Amino acid sequence: MVKIKEIKRTELNTEEFIREKANEISSLVGDGLAINALSGGVDSSAVTMLGHKALGERLKTYFVDNGIMRKGEPEWIVSLFKGLGVKVEIIDAQDKFFNALKGLTDPEEKREAVTQTFYKDVFGKLVRESKAKYLLQGTILTDVDETVAGIKRQHNVFEQLGIDPEKEFGYKIIEPLVQLRKDGVRALAAALGLPESIHNRIPFPGPALAARVIGEVTREKISIVKKATSIVEKKLADSNAFQYMAILHNDRVPGIRDGKRDFGFQVEVRCWDSVDARVATPTKLSHETLTSLAGDIIKQIPGVVSVTYNIATKPPSTMEAV
Ligand code: XMP
Repeated sequence: MVKIKEIKRTELNTEEFIREKANEISSLVGDGLAINALSGGVDSSAVTMLGHKALGERLKTYFVDNGIMRKGEPEWIVSLFKGLGVKVEIIDAQDKFFNALKGLTDPEEKREAVTQTFYKDVFGKLVRESKAKYLLQGTILTDVDETVAGIKRQHNVFEQLGIDPEKEFGYKIIEPLVQLRKDGVRALAAALGLPESIHNRIPFPGPALAARVIGEVTREKISIVKKATSIVEKKLADSNAFQYMAILHNDRVPGIRDGKRDFGFQVEVRCWDSVDARVATPTKLSHETLTSLAGDIIKQIPGVVSVTYNIATKPPSTMEAV
C-alpha cells in the first residue's frame, strides 16, 4: 500500500495546487475523455471544477439521481454549475438504488448495495458507453484513513483496499484531492470559484440518506428522513457546527396524536463539533433550539412521535448512524 503524503491546510498554496493538479490531469488523460460524478458535496464539486479547468469539454460530468439525496438537490446543483459554465447531466437511477436496497438491514450490506449499484450498474455503464478511460474522483485523506483502519468502508477507496478498479470496473481512477483533508478542500473549492453555499457546505456521506435510515431503506422512510433533513439543515444553518443531520430509527414507539394512540416513527437529531471528522463532540445547542426543532419535525412530518438529540461523542459513536 502506497503511503500518501498529507498536505496540511497551512501548507496548501491553492493556486499552485490547482496548476499542478490541472497539469497532472491533462497529461494523464491526453486527448481522451474523462468522466466524473458530481454529488454536490464540496469534494466532488472541487474535483469537477479542477477537471473542467484541466479538460474543458473532455470532462463529462454526471449527477446520478439515486433518490436518496437531499430534497431538490439534483436540480439545484445542475443549475448552480450551469452558472459556472459547467454542463452536468442528470441520470435518473432511483429505481435501481431502491431495488438494490430492498430487504437489506445490515449497515455494511446497505453501503455495499449503494456502492455496487453506483459503480457497476449505473456509473460503470455510463463510463463504458462514453468510452472514457479515466474517472476523476474526490477521495480525501480521511476517507482513506477510516477505510484502512477498518472503521467504515467508505464508498470510494478501492485502491487502498487492494481492489483494481480497472480489472473490476474497467477504468482508471484519478484522485487529485487524496493528500488533503476537508479544511484544505474547502480552501481549494473557494479558490476554484465555487460559491460559499458549496465550499462551506457541511459534509454529506456517499451512501447519502441510506446512511441515516436505520434498518431497511424504503421510499417511505427516505421521504421522512428527507423532510427531517431539510428542517434540521435550515434550523441549524447558523450553528457553526461541523455537521448536522436527522436519522430515522427502525423501531416504532407509541405516541398520542389527536387524542388517539399512535404507533409512530422516531427521529434522532445529531449535531457535531469537529475539525476533520476523526473525532467529534455533540454541539451544545440551546434547549430553545432543540425544542423548536422537535416542534417543527413533529408538526411537519406526519407519523413522527419522538425526537431525540444525540449526546454521545465520536468515538465510540460514528457521526452517521449507518
Ligand atoms: P463517520 O460516520 O464515519 O463519518 O463518523 C465521518 C465523516 O464522513 C462522512 N461519511 C462519508 N463520506 N462516503 C463519504 O464520502 C461515505 O461512505 C461516508 N460515510 C460517512 C460523514 O458524513 C462524516 O462527515
